[in-house]
Amino acid sequence: MQRKFIVGNWKMNGALANNETLLKEVANGVAKMPGVDCAVCVPFPYLAQTQSLLHGTSIKLGAQNVHQANKGAYTGEVSVSMLSDFNCDYVIVGHSERRNLFGESSQLVAEKFASVQKAGLLPIICVGETLEQRETGITEAVVTEQLAEVSKLLGEQSFRTSVIAYEPVWAIGTGKTATPEQAQEVHAFIRKNIAGFDEEFGQALCILYGGSVNPTNAAELFSMPDIDGGLIGGASLVAEDFLAICNAGQK
Ligand code: 13P
Repeated sequence: MQRKFIVGNWKMNGALANNETLLKEVANGVAKMPGVDCAVCVPFPYLAQTQSLLHGTSIKLGAQNVHQANKGAYTGEVSVSMLSDFNCDYVIVGHSERRNLFGESSQLVAEKFASVQKAGLLPIICVGETLEQRETGITEAVVTEQLAEVSKLLGEQSFRTSVIAYEPVWAIGTGKTATPEQAQEVHAFIRKNIAGFDEEFGQALCILYGGSVNPTNAAELFSMPDIDGGLIGGASLVAEDFLAICNAGQK
């Protein structure tokens, strides 16, 4: 089993004045946890501040979105080369909030995924079903469709240099976590769906769970064989909580 990877997704939260305290507390805590890997994905305006505060720490830097083109007349957008300027290691693509609130299709998400990889950064691609889709029994079909465009565009092997995050939409920000068994079932499906019977490939895949992960439920989720870590929203804004989750991921 690989080391757990815990990623904070701040979403549209943060403030110049508060970020410093949060990041310093997180960095100090993580420095005492050699058995876990961490990253924080912050809003674009705070990349410079976060880059400088994380300098010399083991915590990696990530962004939450990117435009698929490298430059041009796309007012208000940010390209991956700009993210590279801040030494970002990761970029979240296809978060359900982007898919649902901003109409991002799986095809567009695949283009963003490609652009991130082409620049040498690692995409964190999010997939997950709504409550209605779960209740209709089409969870597997939904996540398959969400990943298929990447396979079509770049081939299955491209997932080797990426992170996949399974985030059931009904569990995001609702306090309603998927049970470890529910999450495990989908994680195992995703691994098999991408890697087939290639065991080495399957083990190389990093599949995070996201959706109301907190200090109380983290250890149980991370104990499941196919859960390689977590993508943490709300709890990543509170140093104590985020650190407790990182600690739960320590080997
Ligand atoms: P919460 O942890 O706030 O449920 O958010 C999960 C998420 O969407 C992380 O990307």
